Amino acid sequence: MGLPSGTVPGGVYETLPSRLYTDPATFDAEQEVVFARSWQLVGHQSQVPNPGDHFLARVSGEAVVVVRGDDGTIRAFYNVCAHRGHELVTERRDDGLDVGTCRRFTCPYHAWSYRTDGSLAGAPNAAAFPGFDAATVNLAPVRVEVFHGLLLVNLAADAVPFHLVAGSASEQIARYAPGLADAHHVARTERRAAANWKVVAENFNECYHCAVVHKTLTTGVVDPDRYTTRVEPWGIVHRSPARPDDVKSYGYVADADAGTDWFLTWWFWPLFAVQVYPGGIVNTYRWRPVDVGTTEVEVDWWLPHPEPTEVEAEIIHQHRTTTFAEDGPIVDSVQRGLASRGFDRGPIVVDDRCSSRSEHPILGVRYHYLAAMGGAVSP
Ligand code: FES
Ligand SMILES: [Fe+2]
Repeated sequence: MGLPSGTVPGGVYETLPSRLYTDPATFDAEQEVVFARSWQLVGHQSQVPNPGDHFLARVSGEAVVVVRGDDGTIRAFYNVCAHRGHELVTERRDDGLDVGTCRRFTCPYHAWSYRTDGSLAGAPNAAAFPGFDAATVNLAPVRVEVFHGLLLVNLAADAVPFHLVAGSASEQIARYAPGLADAHHVARTERRAAANWKVVAENFNECYHCAVVHKTLTTGVVDPDRYTTRVEPWGIVHRSPARPDDVKSYGYVADADAGTDWFLTWWFWPLFAVQVYPGGIVNTYRWRPVDVGTTEVEVDWWLPHPEPTEVEAEIIHQHRTTTFAEDGPIVDSVQRGLASRGFDRGPIVVDDRCSSRSEHPILGVRYHYLAAMGGAVSP
C-alpha cells in the first residue's frame, strides 16, 4: 500500500480485526510500544509562566511532573522520589490544568527535597550518613519538547526529536496558527469515551461520516467537496477552504492574506492534534487511553487573549454542542459493535480521488499503527 505518500488507489480494503480493539493484552502491548515511545501533548508553556510553576501529566500509565526551572527551562520528571519511591507531587490532579508553584519539591515520606532541575537539595540528617553523596541523587528525567508553545513529553530516551518528526506540519502551523506559542488557554471540552483509542482515532480522521453525522460542520464550516485528508510521515493532515459568508455557521472573518480562510487539522500519530477553525481559531485535541475500552478526549482552545471574543465563544460552544457531541455516541456504539460476536472485520471503502467521502484515512491510521507495533500484532 502506498502510504505514507498521501493517498492510496481507490478500492475496498479491510479493517483490522476487532480483537485489536477489545483485547486487554493488546492494550498492554500498546502501552509499551506505542504510548511510551511517542510524543504526547501535556500542556502549553503559558501554563507554567514562572520558575517553580508545575503540573502533573499522565502519560502511558505514568505520572510525570512538568516544571519550569529556576533557570527558565521547562523540564519533566517521573513523579517518583529517588529515595524509596514515594510519589513526589501528591496534591495535583493529572489533567494538566491544575498548576501549582514551589521552590522545592519535598517528598511527604522522609522530606527529601529536590530543586526544580531535579537535583537533590537536602535530606534530613544527610551529613551524618557516611558515604552519602547528595550530588548523585536526581529525579528521573523525562524528555520534553516545546513545539509552537505546546509541551510534549516522550518516555523513550532514544525517541527521535519531535521537531524532526513534525517536518511539514511545523511549517504549516507556523503559517496558519502563528500565535500558538504565545496563546492563552481559554476553554476545555472533555468527554470520557467508552471506546478504544483506535476507534476514536479512526473516527476523528475519516470524514465519510461527516455529511451524515456533522451537519453543522459540513454545511457551515468546511466544504465537503474540497475537503482533503492526506497521510504524512508524522500523521494525517486535513484541509478545507472555509465556507463563504452567506452560509457560515458562526461569525468568523476569513482573511486570505492572513491564511484564516481555512479549516486545518494536523493529527499527530498517535494521540494529539492541532486544529485551526476558520477565523484562525486554534484548538488542540488530546486523547488519553485509560484502558482497552476507555479513552478520555480533551479539547483545549488557545487564543491570543485570556477571554474569548464573541465569535470565539460562539465556535467553542458550537464545536462542543455539535461536532464534538455528535462523535461521542458514535464511537461508543462502534466499540459495543466490535465486542459483538457478529462482527470481526469490515470493508474500508476508498474512492479514486481520496475525497472526503472516502475512508483512506483509516488506512493511514493503520499504517502508523502497524509501523509502530511491528511484530507485536498480526493484522
Ligand atoms: S521516599 Fe521520598 S523521602 Fe523517602
Ligand atoms: Fe466525526
